[in-house]
Amino acid sequence: MLKVFLDANVILDIFLKRERYEYSLAILELCKRGLIQCYTSSCIIGIVNYILEKELNRKSTRDFLRELLSYVNIIPIKNDDILRALNFKDFEDGMNYHSSIFLDYFITWNKKDYPKDERILTPEEFLRLDFNIKSVPFLDLSRILKEILPEIEKGIYEILFTSKFVEDTNVKLFEEEFAKYCNVKHCIVTNSGTSALYLALKAIGIKPGDEVILPANTFIATAEAISLLGAKPVFVDIDEYTYTINPEEIEKNITEKTKAVIPVHLYGQCCDMDYINEIAEKYGLYVIEDACQAHGAEYKKRKAGSLGHIAAFSFYPSKNLGTIGEGGAITTNDDELAEKVKLLKNHGSRKKYVHEIIGGNFRLDEIKGLVLRVKLKYLDKWNNMRRDAAKLYNENLKDTVIVPYEASYNKHVYHLYVIRIKKRDLVREELLKRGVETAIHYPVPIHLQKAFMNISKVSLPITERISREILSLPLFPYIRYEEILYVCKNIKDIVSCL
Ligand SMILES: Cc1ncc(COP(=O)(O)O)c(C=O)c1O
Repeated sequence: MLKVFLDANVILDIFLKRERYEYSLAILELCKRGLIQCYTSSCIIGIVNYILEKELNRKSTRDFLRELLSYVNIIPIKNDDILRALNFKDFEDGMNYHSSIFLDYFITWNKKDYPKDERILTPEEFLRLDFNIKSVPFLDLSRILKEILPEIEKGIYEILFTSKFVEDTNVKLFEEEFAKYCNVKHCIVTNSGTSALYLALKAIGIKPGDEVILPANTFIATAEAISLLGAKPVFVDIDEYTYTINPEEIEKNITEKTKAVIPVHLYGQCCDMDYINEIAEKYGLYVIEDACQAHGAEYKKRKAGSLGHIAAFSFYPSKNLGTIGEGGAITTNDDELAEKVKLLKNHGSRKKYVHEIIGGNFRLDEIKGLVLRVKLKYLDKWNNMRRDAAKLYNENLKDTVIVPYEASYNKHVYHLYVIRIKKRDLVREELLKRGVETAIHYPVPIHLQKAFMNISKVSLPITERISREILSLPLFPYIRYEEILYVCKNIKDIVSCL
């Protein structure tokens, strides 16, 4: 349901019956009828009480407040809101604005007193909005901007003035913060997730002739990184329920050339890591987690990125933790591997113009590091929002389609919400006609891609079957309740006509 903040002037309109008060009254009516949720802040209630008591008498003021509070919620003003308000021209406006930042709209007649923000509307503008949802985007990254923009703006100015654009304070601090977040000793950022996979494989010594086992249901980068080093990707099948690599298939495909396995924590859910690590130990293999879709995901209360010898993350913008462009990182507890990656990513150099080994340039920009630092603070909150959205989808779709399965030992962070449905392409087309954007991850499994056909001729029945049925639905932080219901209603309508 839409959540709206009411400024003091809107509340006062209603009681003082000021000019144009019908607009404010109409908003309150929507709230009374349960069509929207209204909020205000404790300091506004104080102001309203003060003004009304002066204009009217104490009794009618208190009666009005009592009635108002039966349908308007009060949001707390937190320390952070107060600190940010110190930069505002009007301190009280600043506190209200910041405390309401997670709501959909802020309703006030005095728009000019607040920053430029498309959420801020007059009561009249708000009533002109069309609440009938007619489309749902697959991903809308602009909705998180309201939370992070002030801090990013400030940080970008600082970077511009110091002119330190590549791997400086922000990148170094992010590496420390992300290592702490994943509970590992080292985080080393790279310029993409593909680079992170490549560097991880190079650091463990993968060379031409080696074999590396991976699932075929993943993004192509997982396999490319192996091939770029001249090694052979060995594709294996997935588990029917979690869609992640089936550990039994790993063991069946081990040869004397096998050097490593890459479990991919797909869609935001970790693989069965105890089982995989046990097999790896038995055969002396390295385990490289592809955690590019699993920032903050947990396996038995341990974070993705801390579950193997070394892990690769992507910070591509659409990821649960994304930057403004390409980016990636490796995480590891192994000091030697960490040292090797540090050398490889920066021209084999520890000291400027002294090159110990042949490396390359896989460094990250400071502005991207800054964005990651700001966003990391919100990662858990946004992951929980994703989980709430997934729960709502599950409740509404469980009798119509196959909804995602979350293994009992996992905390799934729903990078993607993937259902399985018959006549997938037809359903997808119909949904698009109704304004719902969807995607497929992935329509052609890697072992059937032209690029890999010569390398590997295997048949992987589960991967091949599910690739024809999977459909990713819109899911991102701040997707609205109504939007999810709109998607579900349309899926049900379409399925009932098939
Ligand atoms: C599973 C997986 N592996 C690797 C990558 C590659 O990451 P990047 O796009 O940052 O190179 C991605 C990115 O989409 C991914 O989803």
